Amino acid sequence: MMREVFEEGRGHASGKVILLGEHAVVYGTPAIAASLAHGARAVARRSETNRLFLGNKELPQDDPLHPALERIRTVLGAPPVELRLELDLPPGCGLGASAALGVASARALADLSGQSTSQRRISEAADAWEKVFHGTPSGVDRSAAQENGVLRFVRGQEPEKLVLRRSLFLTVAVASPAASTRDMIDNVARLRSANPDQFDKNLEAIRSLVDNATACLRSGDIRSTGRLMDLCQMILSGWMLSTEGIELACAKAREAGALGAKLTGAGGGGCIVALCENDAMSRHVQDALLDLGLEAFATRVPQ
Ligand code: PMV
Repeated sequence: MMREVFEEGRGHASGKVILLGEHAVVYGTPAIAASLAHGARAVARRSETNRLFLGNKELPQDDPLHPALERIRTVLGAPPVELRLELDLPPGCGLGASAALGVASARALADLSGQSTSQRRISEAADAWEKVFHGTPSGVDRSAAQENGVLRFVRGQEPEKLVLRRSLFLTVAVASPAASTRDMIDNVARLRSANPDQFDKNLEAIRSLVDNATACLRSGDIRSTGRLMDLCQMILSGWMLSTEGIELACAKAREAGALGAKLTGAGGGGCIVALCENDAMSRHVQDALLDLGLEAFATRVPQ
């Protein structure tokens, strides 16, 4: 169906945290991800040639966002654009910043063209963008960028939106500089080859934590969800994905009252996520993490 062709197209998308199940998701077990209110916005205008701005800064033609934009244009059959991007997430630390930029850009280009574009086309365009940065991503970042709320995600399947009994109050902090996701996935693969039986036991343990957390989130049992996140952190530490900085930040968050805290995403550095009882507690935990000198924010994931 054709609509009026607009001078300007707009799109926005969410960042994400993985609440449970990272790395194991690569081997087919489920993961739970929450979309963040923090994310990306894009405004596209017609132009003779592609121009890209991140905040106030124009990106040079050799910036990797340029080939990523080309891939979106190819999938959507869109003309050259001036694309202005805004990001309100720290980039490159596992909060899904690149997927949020990809989904926001695809939405802005689709909006500009005046065509009604299906969710599937937007997914395809954003996946093409993501492949420039991440090779073969599991798709969890892109799914969370497109949705709101909490998703149960299994690789290769349509994500399932979880109906929550209660909103979630989270505090997120950048515990230390991020490691490469690919290196962390390779390290886990090496552990698996060294001891496949032990690895399979850990995978089954994570599957059961994720299944229990799914039930707890549906029934509003936030306390138990927090405990399950702590247990998941223990298994991820056993896979050598935690760091001193992550352990320190998690301990500080728990001491300040968080119900559970763990690394989120690839590990080896990057962010932690802490689950809190309510808004006041998530702000208190944020203050405690700011006192450690970390970048931190509190956020609510609506029911
Ligand atoms: O830190 P991130 O957002 O790149 O998360 C990686 C999560 C993994 O499970 C390790 C990999 C994946 O593609 O799911």
